[in-house]
Amino acid sequence: MKIGLLGFGVVGRGVYEITEGRDDMQVTKVLCLEDVQLPDAEAVRDIRQIVEDDSIDTVVEAMGGLHPAYDFVRAAIVAGKNVVTSNKALVCTFYDELLPLVKEKGVCFRCTAAVGGGIGWLSELERARRVQEIREVGGIMNGTCNYILDNMTRLGLNYDDVLKQAQKLGYAEANPSTDVDGIDTWHKVILSANIAFGVSLDKDSVPVAGIRNIQAQDVENFKAHGLVCKLISTGKRDGGVISAYVQPTLVREGEPEAAVPMNYNLITFVGATSERMSFFGQGAGRYPTAYNVVQDLVDVLAGRGFYAPYGGKVTAVNEEKLTWYVRGGWNGSVKEHWGSAAVTEPVSVAEMHAWLKENSNAFIAAIR
Ligand code: HSE
Repeated sequence: MKIGLLGFGVVGRGVYEITEGRDDMQVTKVLCLEDVQLPDAEAVRDIRQIVEDDSIDTVVEAMGGLHPAYDFVRAAIVAGKNVVTSNKALVCTFYDELLPLVKEKGVCFRCTAAVGGGIGWLSELERARRVQEIREVGGIMNGTCNYILDNMTRLGLNYDDVLKQAQKLGYAEANPSTDVDGIDTWHKVILSANIAFGVSLDKDSVPVAGIRNIQAQDVENFKAHGLVCKLISTGKRDGGVISAYVQPTLVREGEPEAAVPMNYNLITFVGATSERMSFFGQGAGRYPTAYNVVQDLVDVLAGRGFYAPYGGKVTAVNEEKLTWYVRGGWNGSVKEHWGSAAVTEPVSVAEMHAWLKENSNAFIAAIR
């Protein structure tokens, strides 16, 4: 396998190092803006030097962002090359453009590192759905948010200080709002649900609430009630109805999610036969992410394409009623007060997210 590597940053460099010296695959060209001297590969500046090179059969996209990454990936597929990417924003945003094109061109397209970094989540989901119906996917999919919430809970630190630490450690996206506003998790759960349920979820029907507004006083409230706050994604199928959402969620101390430390992820599917299966590990970072890119390359060598058939458009319906912790401006029915915050009577997911849109300074968390 001859590989054209797009990008030589955190993930790209990791892929180069892990594949160096393998006899089944070689990175022969690297597209990057800086002048890098590589012993076994040529550094190029123009994507055409990769897309028009017939000796390259597989492209690894490790640039991040939507453009020009999507344009380059598309050009590679059109040229009949297999593609492996870790870019969840790209795959999620252009799902309806990429998947039919991949099928038409008969190439392999894989993105295991896009959800869960080094965890073999999407590849296990691919195996799981071969033998059973998947009923639910979700969990803790963002290392930065987990790092922030874990440090606030264990050490009583405040939000801004811990976010800075997460950025220093290289967990956060280039724009950390992608992490703390839940967008990264949103991309990941939509992609997971699309694969698990064989659909293409209408992204606008999947609401997302992040952790930006959480304060130390909220964490104190949760502790006093034996609860731990985590950013949790959910995708569920019940008969023909699919629900999907991302939101801070209060779990009981002692539940598996409550114990997830630092920047780790814990992702779960519920299958009709296997029942609940959870996957724990490093959800970010150079080598864990690059490890799963290389796993995908090995799968491409074995002829494994995308994880699931491309399915039709589906709108998520989020009528499930939950009890919520709300700090800031709630004027609906209240079950009790925790300090200045309200614990609501049951309110549907759709209704609470609609309320949050109008009250963007509030902090909400579903109570599980
Ligand atoms: N910023 C992401 C995270 C990286 O914190 O999980 C992996 O997608």
